[in-house]
Amino acid sequence: MKNKVILSKRYVNEAIEELKRNYELIIAEDENKPLIEVLKQNPNTIAVISFLSDKIDKEFIDIGKNLKIISNYAVGYNNIDIEYAKQKGIIVTNTPDVLTNATADLTMALILSVSRRIVESDKFVRQGKFKGWHALMFLGKELNGATIGIVGLGRIGTAVGIRAKGFGMNVIYYSKTRKPDIEKKYGFVYKTFVELIKTSDIVSLHLPYSEDVHHLFDKDAFDLMKKDAIFINVARGKIVDESYLAEKLEKKELFGAGLDVYEFEPNVTEKLKTLDNVVLTPHTGSATQKTRYEMAMLTINNIKNVLNGKKPLTPVY
Ligand code: DGY
Repeated sequence: MKNKVILSKRYVNEAIEELKRNYELIIAEDENKPLIEVLKQNPNTIAVISFLSDKIDKEFIDIGKNLKIISNYAVGYNNIDIEYAKQKGIIVTNTPDVLTNATADLTMALILSVSRRIVESDKFVRQGKFKGWHALMFLGKELNGATIGIVGLGRIGTAVGIRAKGFGMNVIYYSKTRKPDIEKKYGFVYKTFVELIKTSDIVSLHLPYSEDVHHLFDKDAFDLMKKDAIFINVARGKIVDESYLAEKLEKKELFGAGLDVYEFEPNVTEKLKTLDNVVLTPHTGSATQKTRYEMAMLTINNIKNVLNGKKPLTPVY
């Protein structure tokens, strides 16, 4: 008899076929029920593939009495009660590395979109407002020579720094621990958090979410930033006081912002949607065909390893 695996929502077809070949697969989305309900109906499930929008809390873990692995289809795993899963002896895995480049690319896309006012310009042209070249039309910010402050120098933060160097930017960073090897290799310069936000032309957020960093970007932090700075968040929305950010942008006390994640995702602060100096994407940091395929295969290979008594490839603890 095949082991039972629940997949939260549909993802790349090749991966679904691979799951079907190896396991009895239930796709919660196809049942039109939340993941937790499907787990309740299938208490003998041995593995779950969860998405970042699935809350894997104590209740969920208690229902999954036979779970051996929770394979999260994301690098971030703040949707999972890790301590409780650990206590219950359930392995939790994520999808690091394979999404680093895609997420760093989206970061650069947001930086360019905001600094060169791409979305605003596109709207202008489509609305038939482009009547001829003008010397003062849609003036943006130059990246060459600008300072980018990277908050959180993990894999994605580092990949963004490398790309920023290619654009001629000075790269400064803040991280809980200093990274002398990376500093030496790429010429990034360490700063305290306050020094960084005060001096950066672009502040790019790449921290994982935990209670410690909830609203790290609050009134105090945003008020310290340069009045013409650009703020980018492709990490997690709850690190930012989104309504205060919207206020700053509305008052033009920042040049602009590029956001891929939101404090109350999938809800987005209404004011942000009305502002031209903000570019909004729907949490698509890792959304390239190649990356989503590799993430999906990694969720499966982690399950295979664990069910075959081997070490998972990318455990979170
Ligand atoms: C993740 O995988 O945690 C990222 O948020 C994807 O963009």
